Amino acid sequence: MRTRLFLLFVFFVVLNTKAQTLFDTTGQSAKLQWFAQAKLGIFIHYGIYAVNGIDESWAFYNLKISWEDYMKQLDGFTASAYQPDRWAELFDEAGAKYAILTTKHHDGVALWPTAAHTYNTLENTPAKRDLVEPFCQSIRAKGIKVGLYFSLIDWSHNDYPAWTKTKNRYNVSEDTARWLRFQSYCQAQINEISQRYNPDIFWFDGDWEHTAAEWQAPNIRRNILTTNPKAIINSRLQGYGDYATPEQFLPITRPENTPWELCLTTNDQWGYQPRDTNYKTPNQVIRIFADCIGNGGNLLLDVGPKPDGTIPTEQANILKGLGRWTHKHAEAIYNTQAGLPLGYFYGPSTLSDDRKTLYLYMTERPNGPIQVKGLVSKVNKIRVVGTNQTLTSRIMMKLSWSTTPGILYINVPVTVLDPDLTVIALELDSPCQVHK
Ligand code: GLC
Repeated sequence: MRTRLFLLFVFFVVLNTKAQTLFDTTGQSAKLQWFAQAKLGIFIHYGIYAVNGIDESWAFYNLKISWEDYMKQLDGFTASAYQPDRWAELFDEAGAKYAILTTKHHDGVALWPTAAHTYNTLENTPAKRDLVEPFCQSIRAKGIKVGLYFSLIDWSHNDYPAWTKTKNRYNVSEDTARWLRFQSYCQAQINEISQRYNPDIFWFDGDWEHTAAEWQAPNIRRNILTTNPKAIINSRLQGYGDYATPEQFLPITRPENTPWELCLTTNDQWGYQPRDTNYKTPNQVIRIFADCIGNGGNLLLDVGPKPDGTIPTEQANILKGLGRWTHKHAEAIYNTQAGLPLGYFYGPSTLSDDRKTLYLYMTERPNGPIQVKGLVSKVNKIRVVGTNQTLTSRIMMKLSWSTTPGILYINVPVTVLDPDLTVIALELDSPCQVHK
């Protein structure tokens, strides 16, 4: 009897541990739930590089300008018209659900008064202030989640190995003590950000210059999650992040088994560079965005404010153009998941949370009825998103005795077309199923 009771006890302990493990795992993915539903974020590259309008940090690293001349931009960084409330309004108008600010780029200039003694906007620029705190406040006040970008690389720090592409101060293997000095500085800054601003997302950059062990990546992750177990960390922490960050390149096939976010510039540069007028049109951005969400990803669209803190009109206009479209099509964007696999429809698509509404994104103007192949679920109703006009359809090639679905042809008159990208909702009688 005793043995039996003991075995029963062991059984319950095992069961509980198992339940606990399961709970923890769900906890991790639950943490990413809001991110997966948010779809659109705004990236802000704000820094002294806007003063001369040159490459952020890379300008001196790539020897386009001397480090001394690069740092002279500190004197021109005024932030005199810095009104993050206005940014928050614009981002909200664009339909963004999170915004990520560069707190420190590879040049080592911190936008907050860091206790670690290096360059920062309070002590070393005419801005004379912390720019991160008001950002967090304004963004949160609009109900938008806060992300903070932090460069692990700090080419201006005396204890950091690389300085420019031809100048290395030292090698980590030759002077471990010096590297550890840099490490404690770097980690102190990360802890400051964590404790002062408690961002929803930590967006690291520059991990490629050192290994996970050198960065003490597990330690960084642990410290962040101790302060805030819900913090999300991007992939640029040598394998210790939560989601992938393809950059300036739209994945052609659907990235599997990982949440992801495409980071993208509005012209060709991250920071403010008035010479670069190669802007994408709102229409191009909308189509790229559709491709991202159709494949289960997010878009992180970048703006580069001027030294005074205002967002250039061309960039603001792109955000507004995008916003006209996102607000009209909100039901097909937020809280959705990746749609049909490649080939079933000529364009991106998404599915509602319950998988009972299929949204077809018409990236081109149709040349006749649009077609969906291999759809097994029965369609109850077809309507245009944003206007609710109903559309007619016809199934062809369906044989009464076969389970193979035919081709669904939907008539989309030109009068219902959106100027940028029309979205058609198919209300299904059961969660979407396709023929394989
Ligand atoms: C790159 C660049 C950097 C830019 C970042 C944005 O890693 O080094 O300049 O800030 O991408 O994703």
